[in-house]
Amino acid sequence: MKRNTQRNLYNWFNGWSWQSKSKAKKTTTLIFSIFLLVAVLVLARWIDSSSLSGVYSSNQILRISTKAPKRPEIFPLNCAKGNETQVCPRTYPTTHNPTNPNHSSLSCPSYFRWIHEDLRPWKETGITRGMVERARTTANFRLVIVNGKAYIEKYRKSIQTRDGFTQWGILQLLRIYPGRLPDLELMFDCDDRPVVRLDNFRGPNAGPPPLFRYCGDDSTLDIVFPDWSFWGWAEINIKPWSYVLEDIKEGNKKTKWKDRVPYAYWRGNPHVAPTRKDLLKCNASHQFDWNTRLYVQDWVEQSKQGFKDSDVGDQCTHRYKIYVEGWAWSVSEKYIMACDSMSLYIRPHFYDFFIREMVPLQHYWPIRDTSKCTSLKFAVEWGNNHTHQAEGIGKESSKFIQENLKMEYVYDYMFHLLNEYSKLLKFKPNIPPGAVELCSETMGCNAAANGVNGNKFMVDSLVKSPSHTLPCNLPPPYDPQLLHDFLETKSNLTRQVEIWEDEHWQNLSKNQ
Ligand SMILES: *[C@@H]1O[C@H](CO)[C@@H](O)[C@H](O)[C@H]1NC(C)=O
Ligand SMILES: *[C@@H]1O[C@H](CO)[C@@H](O)[C@H](O)[C@H]1NC(C)=O
Ligand SMILES: *[C@@H]1O[C@H](CO)[C@@H](O)[C@H](O)[C@H]1NC(C)=O
Ligand SMILES: *[C@@H]1O[C@H](CO)[C@@H](O)[C@H](O)[C@H]1NC(C)=O
Ligand SMILES: *[C@@H]1O[C@H](CO)[C@@H](O)[C@H](O)[C@H]1NC(C)=O
Ligand SMILES: *[C@@H]1O[C@H](CO)[C@@H](O)[C@H](O)[C@H]1NC(C)=O
Repeated sequence: MKRNTQRNLYNWFNGWSWQSKSKAKKTTTLIFSIFLLVAVLVLARWIDSSSLSGVYSSNQILRISTKAPKRPEIFPLNCAKGNETQVCPRTYPTTHNPTNPNHSSLSCPSYFRWIHEDLRPWKETGITRGMVERARTTANFRLVIVNGKAYIEKYRKSIQTRDGFTQWGILQLLRIYPGRLPDLELMFDCDDRPVVRLDNFRGPNAGPPPLFRYCGDDSTLDIVFPDWSFWGWAEINIKPWSYVLEDIKEGNKKTKWKDRVPYAYWRGNPHVAPTRKDLLKCNASHQFDWNTRLYVQDWVEQSKQGFKDSDVGDQCTHRYKIYVEGWAWSVSEKYIMACDSMSLYIRPHFYDFFIREMVPLQHYWPIRDTSKCTSLKFAVEWGNNHTHQAEGIGKESSKFIQENLKMEYVYDYMFHLLNEYSKLLKFKPNIPPGAVELCSETMGCNAAANGVNGNKFMVDSLVKSPSHTLPCNLPPPYDPQLLHDFLETKSNLTRQVEIWEDEHWQNLSKNQ
């Protein structure tokens, strides 16, 4: 069994997780005022220079991108001078001629296969205009792409700045692959939980509304798209993903795995979901130590202190990090998985676009949702008894995220998802009368529109030149039998851990 374990063992996650829900409003106001100050200073400089030159100076745009490879800046933001009205420039490149097209012979990471699964409900029927219109009920906005330009028809305000950052991400995709995205219309819902219930669209009722959002679960058909935080989460000061990824890489180097605190760490907001409150019951107390160290993240306090204790890159201090969902999936998942401490992954209900490809005992250690404390205690004890394997699992998840979830691939995922989606459309997309054209200038030049932090993150995540390569090659759909086996292997591995866990507690009680 030992040898087997060694071979099978991979990574886990640790983590904190954050989801802003109940405290969000108060926190937002506070954060807002604090950042207003900072931002006024920062923005004063941008506006200053843009009123002089009409564009942001490359210096400022590249301010924190020193680690990113320098590409010639082909199209900087073209901000209006002084009191001119901001318009979308007519000078955007409309074709994409990569200098290194051969690079594209690379296959995309295998989680891209899930694109085919997410679009499967429309494979036979295609997507009609009626289906899209039915998705409008809960949508925050309709996205239209026609001739390489993006248009938005807005329906409802989203939570915080989720909608704006999602739209910003799509605009950056258009900048990376100019002219390559086909015409399309889609509905986007920025709320947490999926809503298109599988049960309602069987048999004669097939033809569900295609609705894009950030996560899915096994009983719904919503189409999973990368969440806003890849371009930054302004309200809680989380930088765009490419920067966080670098920070975590550095953070991983700070303390050797063996020298880290040998307990399971979590920091987050427990008020967003009962499962998090349940987790807090496992915190070490005078009577009993479940091998955990759990902390409540108080965003109001953090914002007063300039977020000095909430730096995502500085959280790989413990050997084990816990992932627990919030109201739905949690944005924290990728930060936890990117850290090379072993992730303790509390059985989730929801999935985002990349997690379905990660495997228990390879990338994380599965934790029961129904008996968190005993499960966590066993996991930490096991890891401290098998440090080599535990460290290996931590390294695997970190590698998965660093390699497969780098920003280039996030864009390629979006590209392929939208491209495959558009192939299914049975109607010609057109620009509805109420839609407005969206471009990086109208979003990124207008300091007031996104809140102070928002603007900074947008400028920091601006795509400044088209890709030198074509998108990676989309892998074909899973063979149904292989997919079935893959899912069964995952559930068998989880079951295996539960068996070890049960044996362990039985042995202990026998010996008492
Ligand atoms: C812009 O400002 C200049 C000088 O302050 C003024 O002369 C001009 O009329 C303004 N233009 C508009 C469109 O408001
Ligand atoms: C791409 O590959 C082909 C054949 O493999 C080669 O002839 C061509 O020169 C390459 N192009 C570039 C831009 O490297
Ligand atoms: C959990 O325990 C640690 C250490 O005893 C303590 O510092 C922390 O405040 C506790 N967390 C909660 C949420 O009570
Ligand atoms: C860890 O090792 C100790 C000492 O050998 C043993 O008593 C305990 O059962 C082990 N626990 C696990 C979970 O492997
Ligand atoms: C999963 O476990 C079951 C029962 O032990 C076994 O029959 C099955 O072959 C396993 N599946 C895979 C894919 O390993
Ligand atoms: C429990 O005890 C049995 C019999 O002594 C032993 O074979 C097994 O490895 C133990 N399991 C754990 C998880 O400690």
